[in-house]
Amino acid sequence: MKIARFSRLGFILAAAGSAVGLGNIWKFPYIAGEYGGGAFVLIYLVTVLFIGFSILIAEMLIGYLGRRDTVSSFEVLASKNKKLWRFGGFQALAGLFIMIFYSVVIGWIFNYIVTSLTYLPSSVEEAETIFTTMLHADFWTQFFYHTLSFLFITYVVHKGIKGGIEKLNFYLMPALMLILAGMFLYATTLGAFSKAITFMFEPDYSKVNSEAFVVAVGHAFFTLSLGMGAIMTYSASLEKGANLVKSAFWVAFLDTLIAIVAGLMLFTFLYQYGSGPAQGPGLVFISLPAAFYEMGILGNIFAVFFFIALAFAGLTSSVSLVEPMVQYFIDRFGWSRMRSSLSMGVFFWFFGIFAILSNIDGAKEMLTWGGKSFFDWVDYVTAAIMLPIGGLIMAVFVGYIIPQSEVERVVKPQLGWAYKPWLFSLRYITPVAMFVVMLSLMGVI
Ligand code: PHE
Repeated sequence: MKIARFSRLGFILAAAGSAVGLGNIWKFPYIAGEYGGGAFVLIYLVTVLFIGFSILIAEMLIGYLGRRDTVSSFEVLASKNKKLWRFGGFQALAGLFIMIFYSVVIGWIFNYIVTSLTYLPSSVEEAETIFTTMLHADFWTQFFYHTLSFLFITYVVHKGIKGGIEKLNFYLMPALMLILAGMFLYATTLGAFSKAITFMFEPDYSKVNSEAFVVAVGHAFFTLSLGMGAIMTYSASLEKGANLVKSAFWVAFLDTLIAIVAGLMLFTFLYQYGSGPAQGPGLVFISLPAAFYEMGILGNIFAVFFFIALAFAGLTSSVSLVEPMVQYFIDRFGWSRMRSSLSMGVFFWFFGIFAILSNIDGAKEMLTWGGKSFFDWVDYVTAAIMLPIGGLIMAVFVGYIIPQSEVERVVKPQLGWAYKPWLFSLRYITPVAMFVVMLSLMGVI
């Protein structure tokens, strides 16, 4: 049984640290760009509020009531068919799978911190060459930094909830916010800031289609770290009497705030010095460095700090991706934390090597199936299939399976009048939304 518990602030920082990740800074701006800016941002905000927020509370509740690893929590809380519901806990596996490519991307970021110190590409074309050369031809650089990321993450996780994860978030989260705040303030002084505001907040309804909706729901889910046991596992270490709703509010608020601040800042720089928004996944690795170049020496400083912030965001998410399975092996198999952390680490490190290889010329042919590389497959299977299934299971589990008196006892006093709408959303809206998202991302509809 666990003894170490998060402090109140520690929990919020750790859960927010999990939520604020590469998704906020790297992914949100480019999908906002692709789906028409303001209109997309609006749909995204509505989904975070009505779907994301309600599952966030549900996931916290399972962890808080279960007080164990994800599999055991499902098992003890199910009112019947315990053996079957136990499988709901295996959503934790998604975290380890996500780590296979997440750690590789963190590796790229480490590399960009180091190279931006002395060099920035002078044009988007050059930036693109640099990025694609690294991706397709430079195995060893990627391997080196991926290994570094594995060592760091494993070290932190092996120190445990208090001495490792809470501490990491305690330093890295404020640092991340400071860096972003500083760069954001600078961005507000630039002429292009108002363009960025218009882009992010002025809805162009002609771009609102069902695909934008699906992407928004999918992203709301990914960005809040839902559906793979991270929030659940952290919540198992909450102290008794903690206010789940308040914590959930802070996590969703910080997560959204940081995505919007990062988006506004990036778009300002891209409008002012670069080629404007909507650049696809290469936005931060290609367009942005070229925009920073135009800023002279300040650009180097900004680039280094920006990539440091991005690395911090990625690392605080990573520990939450690994911890659920680490906890699982500790609780169910009696493994030591050291053994469990190292085993999970070696797992994602090992398969991460194949994720790298699957982009390298000469090797990628063997690691590509159906037009998708191994790297893309892992991303796809986790985001399009595993997380929505995890969300669906949790909505049904809390909405119908856990003794409702328990749910009511904990959540009702905290939510007040919103309790009924919350339960309604969990029982009827969320499962349907999750199902539709999954089918659509799988290309079925
Ligand atoms: N929320 C993180 C992000 O936005 C990713 C993540 C997903 C982290 C699931 C933990 C669990 O990048």
